Amino acid sequence: MKLSPSLLSADFGRLAEEIRAVGPASAYIHFDVMDGHFVPNLTFGPPVVNALRRHTSLPFDIHLMIERPAFYAPRFRVGPEDVITFHVEAEDPPEEAIRAIKGLGCRVGISLRPRTPLSAIVPYLNRVDWVLVMSVEPGFGGQEFIPEALDRIRELRGLIGDRGITVAVDGGIKPGNVRAVVEAGAEVIVAGSAVFGGGDPRAAAEELLRAAHA
Ligand code: DX5
Ligand code: ZN
Repeated sequence: MKLSPSLLSADFGRLAEEIRAVGPASAYIHFDVMDGHFVPNLTFGPPVVNALRRHTSLPFDIHLMIERPAFYAPRFRVGPEDVITFHVEAEDPPEEAIRAIKGLGCRVGISLRPRTPLSAIVPYLNRVDWVLVMSVEPGFGGQEFIPEALDRIRELRGLIGDRGITVAVDGGIKPGNVRAVVEAGAEVIVAGSAVFGGGDPRAAAEELLRAAHA
């Protein structure tokens, strides 16, 4: 299991320090990009994400909760290790988002809201590298994990078969439920408030890793 700490719960005035504070427990940095349309919240966009590049060598896991992923993806500076994830429910057609993101030379991820049926992403499984299962309604940090997500992860694993797609899960993951999420089939765990909600991101991230394998 790899940890992708979400900066949504970090101090936005000190993002570079917050990234450093997590230490070696993090395998990625998760960026929640919101446009105020796809979700009723606004965060940051390409200028902020790109500026953080020189503060870390970790791969970027960029979660686009925006209506126009195909239009905005080219504004992110990315390489082969990074992943840009778009939502299947967004306004831009998924085919266009996939083409735009792949054209940047990074990995492409697809995500879906908790109430969107898994069948919505099946047509695209041959063209994506990563699926981000939302275990909360996208838009805000600190929400409760939706337990039905566990069955979805298991079902998704079956649908993926041997395609080598990474399964990431995002929302409400804490030391108390991380093990169940990993056992259901998650390989990447996104955690915001569990990492940045207290005073010590590094200790919190290490606790999550320990709990995942306990
Ligand atoms: C929600 C975001 C999540 C969020 C998770 O829209 O996609 O990445 O930061 O936060 P927690 O871990 O607090 O649920
Ligand atoms: Zn996210």
